[in-house]
Formats: sequence, C-alpha cells, structure tokens
Amino acid sequence: MEFLNIAKQRFSVRSYTSQHVEPEKLEKILEAARVAPTAANLQPIRLIVAQSEQSLTKIGKAANIYGAPLAIIVCADHDKAWVRPFDKKQTGDIDASILTDHMMLQATELGLGSVWVCYFNPDILCREFELPEHLEPINILAIGYSNAGTADTSRFDRQRIALSQLVMYEK
Ligand SMILES: Cc1cc2nc3c(=O)[nH]c(=O)nc-3n(C[C@H](O)[C@H](O)[C@H](O)COP(=O)(O)O)c2cc1C
Repeated sequence: MEFLNIAKQRFSVRSYTSQHVEPEKLEKILEAARVAPTAANLQPIRLIVAQSEQSLTKIGKAANIYGAPLAIIVCADHDKAWVRPFDKKQTGDIDASILTDHMMLQATELGLGSVWVCYFNPDILCREFELPEHLEPINILAIGYSNAGTADTSRFDRQRIALSQLVMYEK
C-alpha cells in the first residue's frame, strides 16, 4: 500500500474486539521499531510488550488503553540517549516517538488499530513494571483489532490544519 494511504487510514482506535494480535504480526511491528532511526544510532529505547492479563491489568492501573489486547510501553534509557552538546537536550523522547510511529503505521498496514497513549501515571507504571531509574516510559502504544470501524480518509480536510498554515517557505 502506498505510504500516504497507510498514514491516512490510521486513526486513534478507542474500542477493540477481544481478538488477539497474531504473534507474526506482533513480530513485524517490533521489527518496524527495531529498524527505526535514533540519534547517533545510539538505540536507547527499550520496549515492554504487555499482552498477558496480568500485565494488562498493571497497565490499567496507570492508563486507559481502551481494552486493547496488546500494549507496548516505549521506554527511553537516559543513560544511553544522545545529548546535544550545545544545550544538553537529550533526544530519548524523540527516539521513542519515532519507534512508536513506526510501530503504529506498521500496525495499520497489517489491518490493526492502535492508539498512542501519553496520558498515564508514570510513577504507577514504573512501580508496576519495576523499571530501573534510568528507564523512563515515554509512550504506550495500544494495539488490537478495531471495534470502531474504519476512518474516513478525507477527514483530514476538517481535522488537520491546512498545508498553508503548517508550512512556511523561507524566501
Ligand atoms: C504524543 C501523543 C499522545 C497521545 N496521548 C493520547 C492519550 O493519552 N489518550 C488517547 O486517547 N489518545 C492519545 N493520543 C491520540 C491523539 O489524541 C490523536 O492522535 C489525535 O487526536 C488525532 O486523532 P487521530 O489519531 O484519530 O488522527 C495521543 C497522540 C499523540 C501523538
């Protein structure tokens, strides 16, 4: 499928069927994360795959993942992420988000729905998954089969700003 079609088909799915994500599809999604670029290729991201009832219950204490049967917690390792020397900005969040986006679009291509979740309580998440101090959970990607139908691919005319607003061409 053409990339732009995949990007336009994706939407935030907030209702899932109980159907599990096949292991081959999960593997492809994780491979999409693995090949994503990171600053200076330092690869500071670690992924926690939650699909057992026990681990989904743990996530449920920190976030709403809308009943998805699979969730991937995307964590940045602050001991490994690149730091820009001029202002000490660390790129762990950016790296984490690139991996998350790769996985989200791969999930779409595989016919799966997903929703990117940042509205979570990090203290609870860290405690429940016993994350070491240097690992920060940045995003949760909830994945499963949509119980919310499909998206209207022309919705961006209404739901996104116009290109003329988004882009400035430098004279
Ligand atoms: C960084 C980020 C954080 C988000 N956090 C949440 C969240 O915590 N809960 C949620 O339901 N949706 C969350 N979303 C989904 C956005 O609300 C959604 O992408 C946006 O409204 C556009 O809708 P669409 O994804 O259907 O195109 C998040 C998206 C991004 C990119």
